[in-house]
Amino acid sequence: MVDRTVAKRAMLDMPPLSAPEEQALRTVPRELFLPGLELTDVYAEQAVVTKRDQERGVALSSVSAPAIIATMLHRADIRPGHRILEIGSGGYNAALIRELTGAGGDVTSIDIDPEVVDRAGRFLDHAGYRDVHVAAADGEHGFARRAPYDRILVTAGAWDVPPAWRDQLAPGGRMVVPMRIRGLTRCLTLERAAEGHWSCVAVDMCGFVRMQGAGEHWEPMPYLNDEPDRRVGLRLEDGPSADVAALRRALAREPDTVWSGVLVQAEEPTDDQDLWIATAADEWALLTADREAIRSGLVTPTWALGTPTLLNADGTGFAYRTLRRHPTREGRWEFGAIGHGPQARATAERLCDLMAAWDRDLRGRPGPEITLHPVSKPDHRLPAGRVIDKRSTRMVLNWTATTEEEKKEEL
Ligand SMILES: C[S@@+](CC[C@H](N)C(=O)[O-])C[C@H]1O[C@@H](n2cnc3c(N)ncnc32)[C@H](O)[C@@H]1O
Repeated sequence: MVDRTVAKRAMLDMPPLSAPEEQALRTVPRELFLPGLELTDVYAEQAVVTKRDQERGVALSSVSAPAIIATMLHRADIRPGHRILEIGSGGYNAALIRELTGAGGDVTSIDIDPEVVDRAGRFLDHAGYRDVHVAAADGEHGFARRAPYDRILVTAGAWDVPPAWRDQLAPGGRMVVPMRIRGLTRCLTLERAAEGHWSCVAVDMCGFVRMQGAGEHWEPMPYLNDEPDRRVGLRLEDGPSADVAALRRALAREPDTVWSGVLVQAEEPTDDQDLWIATAADEWALLTADREAIRSGLVTPTWALGTPTLLNADGTGFAYRTLRRHPTREGRWEFGAIGHGPQARATAERLCDLMAAWDRDLRGRPGPEITLHPVSKPDHRLPAGRVIDKRSTRMVLNWTATTEEEKKEEL
């Protein structure tokens, strides 16, 4: 598992793990945290769901996949003697953290679910990590009793950075947190900057179970049809105005497809494109589809769990991203957009224009500068960029900062 993680990071041009990080991964027996599972499954490149909400059909708890665990540990830059708070337990990651802090450090792992805490505590004891402190608590409030922390690692999908995390992080501390940004999830590595804001020093792809409790946040997710197992839905985070009845009629209408001329190779990561469209477009949404909706050809999105989508100006029609094998260019795929309903073609063209702008100006470059500011900061004191208002912070995504910086370097 570790060999594979190391090789994959090299292939994707990701920074190599440090020797202690690699050693920690080679030391902690993952199977002790997943009892009863076949070893091949324990060490496969996958998260293992350990608890599910049967009603909503969503995972509530899991032991995370090895690759994202390695990435988050590396981003956290944990040193011997550090005091660490992990939000979201399972035991495995806490054991890895304890390997990195050594006996002189202090590891606290909290989970909102007492059953998870109980299980993690037992597994950690059994694996010999008896000094890891586990407790049942809502991570929204951090865990003041054992603060301050040099690092806070959040292992559930957050929507915001609550004040407690800021208050409980030691000066010079660092936080690694999977964060929802207009419905997309990116793992942000955050450091405190001057003037009380957070500055993001790294952005990584990830997927996590949603944070529950006081910080829980659900966006509107209307379905556009009523066919069980063949459902198409929209996730409308940060609320573009949507006329759901009209959008349902739109799905039933003949689609209009536009091709963008933007080509990619199979498996080429293009997650920055999603973040760019989410930044640039006001009427942004994500389209979701059951497997049967795709198999039957009702929709052909690029990803079943959340494909970039634009609504038209009055929220009565939409266009979502699609992909086809390029008819003449061997080994190349082409992005396009499929529009439904009023202004289908114009909306699809606008989505293609945004993809083309990404291709021309941003592809292969560092992503946006991301900063988080106190809610009290007025617009005129925020940096330029897309402002995303949360409960406790105002997030700003600024793409021009990176290009300006490059221009200076070129000069
Ligand atoms: C992906 S699992 C954690 C994986 C774990 N760190 C490991 O070692 O693999 C996410 C956990 O976050 C927990 N969780 C969700 N919301 C929480 C909250 N508000 N506070 C603390 N834990 C929370 C869930 O109960 C779940 O067990």
